[in-house]
Amino acid sequence: MESFLIPILAGLFIFILIKLISIFRGRRQPLDIVSDVANAAQRSLLPKEVAGLEEKMWYEEELAFLFKLNEKISLALGKSTIAAHLVEEVQRFMNTTTCVLFLVDENTGDLRVEAASGANAKSLKDFFLLKGEGITGKVLSSKEPLLVNDLKKNSYYESINQEQYLGNVFVSVPLLIKGLPIGALNVAAKKTAALFTSRDEELLLNVARMGAVAFQNSRLQEQIQADYLKTMTTLAVILDARDPYTKRHSENVTRYSVAIAKEMGFSPAEVEMIRRAGLLHDIGKIGIRDDVLLKPGKLTPEEFEQIKVHPVKGQEIVSSLPFLKGVAGLVRHHHERYDGKGYPDGKSGEDIELGSRIMAVSDSFDAMTTDRPYRKRLLFKEAVAELIRCKASQFDPKVVDNFIAILENNPKIAE
Ligand SMILES: [Fe+2]
Repeated sequence: MESFLIPILAGLFIFILIKLISIFRGRRQPLDIVSDVANAAQRSLLPKEVAGLEEKMWYEEELAFLFKLNEKISLALGKSTIAAHLVEEVQRFMNTTTCVLFLVDENTGDLRVEAASGANAKSLKDFFLLKGEGITGKVLSSKEPLLVNDLKKNSYYESINQEQYLGNVFVSVPLLIKGLPIGALNVAAKKTAALFTSRDEELLLNVARMGAVAFQNSRLQEQIQADYLKTMTTLAVILDARDPYTKRHSENVTRYSVAIAKEMGFSPAEVEMIRRAGLLHDIGKIGIRDDVLLKPGKLTPEEFEQIKVHPVKGQEIVSSLPFLKGVAGLVRHHHERYDGKGYPDGKSGEDIELGSRIMAVSDSFDAMTTDRPYRKRLLFKEAVAELIRCKASQFDPKVVDNFIAILENNPKIAE
């Protein structure tokens, strides 16, 4: 035992002595010695432990990225927004030159670029592949990811390649829902020129899994909304049918209102709101008794008071559905007048939502150009003259001008 201890203690003593001498000579600082020890410790850890630490840090970074991305796409509305988030975030995190997301066309099975980010994003806007075509088509039919670090060495994939943006180095992964392909996520070469690894492929597969779920949820949401809207539109049609004189009224008001909104430069989302509001604008009449709603003669003041409630009732019905909240105000104010003499709130001028001002013109034009039990319909020219006469009193002059321009260019819209 002693034979072991003596040389070790002697060695330790000499080591400390040398270090102390170097400190006192001013060549070395005490902290340098600590640093020496740390370096020695690190050297002794290499390569296994340090590699393990790097791996751990990478997984933590990757996990944080996936959590953040999942949060972002879960809150996104519509497939275009989900797709845009996916390609932008993946391209940035993986530092690739390009990232492209394809979605399968449900009717044809073709692959269309839903979103692209990076160097070739603009040129890829209208890019598509027929079902099963090209490298991405092959990935979808095999339902397996594909990692290629040198396409030139792979004659088969090189021969079927139609996607120039992929270059020589890329990864392509399928988006699957219950085993069925709904799209593909592709990344082309890293900006650092580093090759792709199985870790990159695994990360992309995780993104693809999350993306597929987000697209599926978005589709279900759209389907539910479309079904609700269909039910409510059917109700509106039934309502119109109660009165033979107002048959197709909601449909006509919608057609005119959408045309005016487009003419006035509304965005597609705003036009969609107008379309929904047009279809449902009189839904509140559902609570009005037949003997009042269908009365052929002049209404008494009490009966008219009952009619005047329908925009408020309509607003209540419509606002019960979250996706129709933006429509509720338009429904409430479709009988307001520009001069403030309308109902239910007596709003005036630009205080009335533009969508409601549009519907007021469409509503009156359809009423004027259809027969009523107490009067014949006005001729087309007479109805237009009436719109002009009521500019600035009953109607917003800008809306009337736009509608008249539509009627002049396309008189068939009023048939
Ligand atoms: Fe109405």
